Amino acid sequence: MRKNNPILTDSFGREHTYLRISLTELCNLRCTYCMPAEGIQLSPKSTIMNYEEVYTIAKTFVDHGVTKIRLTGGEPLVRRDVEQVIEKLASLDVELSITTNAVIVNRYIDCLKSNGVKKINVSLDTLVPEKFTSITRRNQFKTVYKNLELLIDEGFHVKINVVLIKGFNDDEISDFIELSKEWPVSVRFIEFMPFDGNRWNRTQMVSYDELMKTVNSFYGKSNVIRLEDAPNDTSKNYKLEGYKGSFAVISSVTNPFCDSCNRIRLTANGRLKNCLFSSSESDLLTPLRNGESIEPIIAKAMASKFKIRGGMDTLEKLERPDLHSQNRSMIKIGG
Ligand code: GTP
Ligand code: 5AD
Ligand code: SF4
Repeated sequence: MRKNNPILTDSFGREHTYLRISLTELCNLRCTYCMPAEGIQLSPKSTIMNYEEVYTIAKTFVDHGVTKIRLTGGEPLVRRDVEQVIEKLASLDVELSITTNAVIVNRYIDCLKSNGVKKINVSLDTLVPEKFTSITRRNQFKTVYKNLELLIDEGFHVKINVVLIKGFNDDEISDFIELSKEWPVSVRFIEFMPFDGNRWNRTQMVSYDELMKTVNSFYGKSNVIRLEDAPNDTSKNYKLEGYKGSFAVISSVTNPFCDSCNRIRLTANGRLKNCLFSSSESDLLTPLRNGESIEPIIAKAMASKFKIRGGMDTLEKLERPDLHSQNRSMIKIGG
């Protein structure tokens, strides 16, 4: 039973209805902007939520108003019991979706369909095979592209996530937008964000402004149509006249969208993060295992949520490694 309970409302009046659950810290790719070059210290296996714990914690959130759950990782599909997790979560009254690198998604088409997963976000940062190998440190471009085609053929609503990095893929902006000519996909360009160990530097980031300058000069400003964004969208959406799909920008660095934030995160080891950039976390798994109520802990975590980016409200603060390195590396958050 959904309660009319305010524990998921923060002190700024934002209601949190979207839970992102990281299912694993493991990944079958090694994207340089996500996975630190030196690797990561994996949480001990015994501290990772089992599928029943994922379900129990998720259900608590759903009972308090969550209507959308997204599975993330690492790469969520490399988790051995991912099918069981999906089946359990599909029994909740929520929109269930997933963000994947698509390397092995072909194995899960039936499972995703039969459990009502309709929306799939695919990470793909380049359309050049050699560049794919260099950014992911794995030679998997062909497989990913084939699986992207498969997802579209199978009728999933696909968004393609492209993290833009200057000098790496900013020459492919129009190539990516051209995918939306015949495919009903949304190509989302993401401003590169700083996380522990990803060697972020402001000069590597392609900003919303720079992206739009490139797009407008390539296509002509009058051909670029601004779309209405859905409430709580992370993206600012656009399309080109006559194209089946659209494109968008996710501008967490230069134009944060925290005012309309409805997102909370559960890490694979059962910690609640009240913001992507939060440096603090609240352990829900240990109290759950001890038979204690997790609701007071959730309420406390929500009450302490900062207004903008975990307290890094200016670009200057976001640039300070002593501040953003108190957060996890992206691979252990899940985006
Ligand atoms: P939709 O549900 O399709 O809108 O997807 P999404 O944007 O919520 O999720 P996805 O996993 O595809 O993430 C795309 C990019 O948006 C990633 O770079 C995420 O890190 C970023 N992102 C997702 N949620 C948030 C958020 O709450 N804050 C910020 N700053 N970035 C976010
Ligand atoms: N900055 C922006 N987006 C990132 N992602 C991973 N690391 C970063 C980063 N440093 C994206 C991935 C994936 C999504 C969950 O987060 O491309 O699509
Ligand atoms: Fe929400 Fe934090 Fe993302 Fe802002 S940075 S939108 S507050 S999760």
